[in-house]
Amino acid sequence: MQGYSQAAENNKAPIADVMDKHLPPDASVLEIGSGAGQHALHMSHTFPGITWLPSEQQAVVPILEANLALYGSNNIQSPLVLDLTDFSWSRDSVDVVYAANVMHIVSESLGKRLVQLAADALKSSGQLMLYGPYKYNGQFTTESNALFDQWLKDRDPASGVRGFEAVIATAQCTGLALTQNYAMPANNQMLIFKRA
Ligand SMILES: C[S@@+](CC[C@H](N)C(=O)[O-])C[C@H]1O[C@@H](n2cnc3c(N)ncnc32)[C@H](O)[C@@H]1O
Repeated sequence: MQGYSQAAENNKAPIADVMDKHLPPDASVLEIGSGAGQHALHMSHTFPGITWLPSEQQAVVPILEANLALYGSNNIQSPLVLDLTDFSWSRDSVDVVYAANVMHIVSESLGKRLVQLAADALKSSGQLMLYGPYKYNGQFTTESNALFDQWLKDRDPASGVRGFEAVIATAQCTGLALTQNYAMPANNQMLIFKRA
């Protein structure tokens, strides 16, 4: 597999366990920032009734396409070129928008665009699922998350572990309300939002 991530391999099963509680059996899922496609592959195999639409920035799509061609199933659609810097969604057409480990990679303003895009894309009964690390009241949950934040900022000053309260506030502005907050392995959270 091209672009293989050990972290994605480690977290795919715990994420699937959470999704199992919330995904409608025939859900349409739009994934933002699919990376090499490990979550797309795992979830589409685990939940054969769903339809998974992976997406990535232009530069990463060839890797995603190559992996999906080798390991994909019928319920994964061809990846969409979706760059948060220049993308909008005009209708409420998907059941779930899912993004893992994207909010802390992109800038805070692009993170807000991700949430807005989700609000635009989701059906009235839809859910936004955000997986990754968060700060609470400005405090990191662990020393390792603080070190991770510094490592991110050394690479790109616009990136960084986001504040839970700020993400909730952004979601509220778009009409989405937090309904679940699961503690996940390796000091991550799975935040689930629905229309308020
Ligand atoms: C840490 S990786 C996460 C990949 C995968 N979701 C996972 O959890 O293993 C972050 C992803 O965000 C994508 N990304 C970065 N900037 C983006 C943008 N402006 N629009 C869409 N995706 C972006 C990157 O290409 C990368 O694949």
